[in-house]
Amino acid sequence: MTTLLQLSDTHIVAEGEMVSGRLDTTAPLERLIQRLQEVREQVGTVDAVLVTGDLSEDGSPESYDQFKRLLAPLDLPLYVIPGNHDARAPLRAAFAADGYLREDGKLNWHRQIGDLHLIGLDTLVEGQGVGVLDDATLGFLDSTLKTIGGEPTLVALHHPPFKSGIVFMDAIGLQSTAAFGDVLRQHQGEILVVCGHLHCMIVSNIGGFPAISAPSPCSSFAFDTRKSARIGFHEQGDGCLIHRWAGTFQTVRVGPVGGAGPFPF
Ligand SMILES: [Fe+2]
Repeated sequence: MTTLLQLSDTHIVAEGEMVSGRLDTTAPLERLIQRLQEVREQVGTVDAVLVTGDLSEDGSPESYDQFKRLLAPLDLPLYVIPGNHDARAPLRAAFAADGYLREDGKLNWHRQIGDLHLIGLDTLVEGQGVGVLDDATLGFLDSTLKTIGGEPTLVALHHPPFKSGIVFMDAIGLQSTAAFGDVLRQHQGEILVVCGHLHCMIVSNIGGFPAISAPSPCSSFAFDTRKSARIGFHEQGDGCLIHRWAGTFQTVRVGPVGGAGPFPF
């Protein structure tokens, strides 16, 4: 059994700052970390935390320091990939000591955690909202999956490899969805694709495998498929995901608050 916690789109800023002049992203993440600590014994052993991009709102070194400080109570290994709000160099510098990030180029990596392989893919195009998997990244994915040889694998990227139906988010979506699907389709075995960017949980598929977007702890985008949908975020944190491998994949959302109970039926 291997269990990974997926956090996404925390949009942390330097201590005391707000996002878009109004959104406090620190307090919701603190609350979620506290909630995760409360349910930790119920969930069982968690092996690592995967963060699927937009750790930071502004890519500043101070925001990454704050992010690490907020995650510290979990005392778990952290694996990160960049989102469109991140900046590659400060992100690399902040997590260099963990030893799995290359010293230059895209932040693509592969790690084995328990009986699960974890592949992180870098879709960041700095200064833009859209995401791209360049040829080198797709080649890395293909060769890594060949090496893994069909063992259970979780593939992580920030931008969803599917259309969400949220028009303004799809406009800044992944530009390489077809090529990504073509690579995945050449491989067999158990693969689960996980992503962020949408600030809501959507289950879809790509290349014959399931693909799931994680919610954000600090804000959400309404599932409004109208072209006239108003562009913007809602002040509603929706927690995070837990992915377990126990002979098959299982994904569970952990919300930011627990209800009263349990009460007898
Ligand atoms: Fe985001």
